[in-house]
Amino acid sequence: MKPRPANVPEKAGEEGAVPRHVAIIMDGNGRWAKQRHLPRLEGHRRGVEAARRITRAARVLGIEALTLYAFSSENWRRPEEEVGDLMGLLRLFIRNDLDEMVRENVRLRVIGDYSRFSADIVALVDDALARTAGNDGPILAIALNYGARAELANAARTLAQQVRDGEIAIESIDEQTIEQHLDTHDLPPLDLLIRTSGEHRLSNFLLWQSAYTELLFVDTLWPDFDEAALRGAVASFGRRQRRFGGL
Ligand code: FPP
Repeated sequence: MKPRPANVPEKAGEEGAVPRHVAIIMDGNGRWAKQRHLPRLEGHRRGVEAARRITRAARVLGIEALTLYAFSSENWRRPEEEVGDLMGLLRLFIRNDLDEMVRENVRLRVIGDYSRFSADIVALVDDALARTAGNDGPILAIALNYGARAELANAARTLAQQVRDGEIAIESIDEQTIEQHLDTHDLPPLDLLIRTSGEHRLSNFLLWQSAYTELLFVDTLWPDFDEAALRGAVASFGRRQRRFGGL
């Protein structure tokens, strides 16, 4: 059997394989609301419901890790009121869903620099991380103030510091060392990345991790993305032949 790169799963590419790690760019809340003449906040509210639904469905399907792009480092550019609304929803999500995560053995992870959020959110997130730290079930990773370029710059800075302090040799820096310094270091390789709402962009999300990821762009607006849509995405992954640069 041909060796695969260390960062790709063995079973991927097999007919019907379930992706180990799925990431989602949850796009289209605003348009969903606009189509219904509702405030954008209502779209985001329904977006949180969709996130909850999909998190449960991913567990049922046996997906080991689900990463959701909840707030990008570029989202600060939105009007203050909308940023405030998104923060409010994040608070509610953690408060309302933490017990279920603990009960369902979910390991919560955060990627991105959430220390820039208000102190009460940082405390809520820290508490949620601590309460789920002992779990060993499926991973739910939430991207908060996440940007892939910043993540890579942080890894470069940390490694440069280690070289300067004489802890590691320049020659020892390779793909694996870089991966170990990304926010996703303890997540499985990213198999499938879904973006909803018909946009075909990665928007600074998981740029390193998506080198061999299957990309799926669907027209559905995020609040309408349901269990059947997730099953469809998983089935489409199972039909694809992944060659990882080979033949
Ligand atoms: C994109 O819709 C969505 C966001 C920028 C935020 C995503 C956030 C949520 C779904 C809620 C928070 C989730 C959790 C798990 C707490 P958009 O506003 O860019 O839509 P548009 O492109 O149609 O305007």
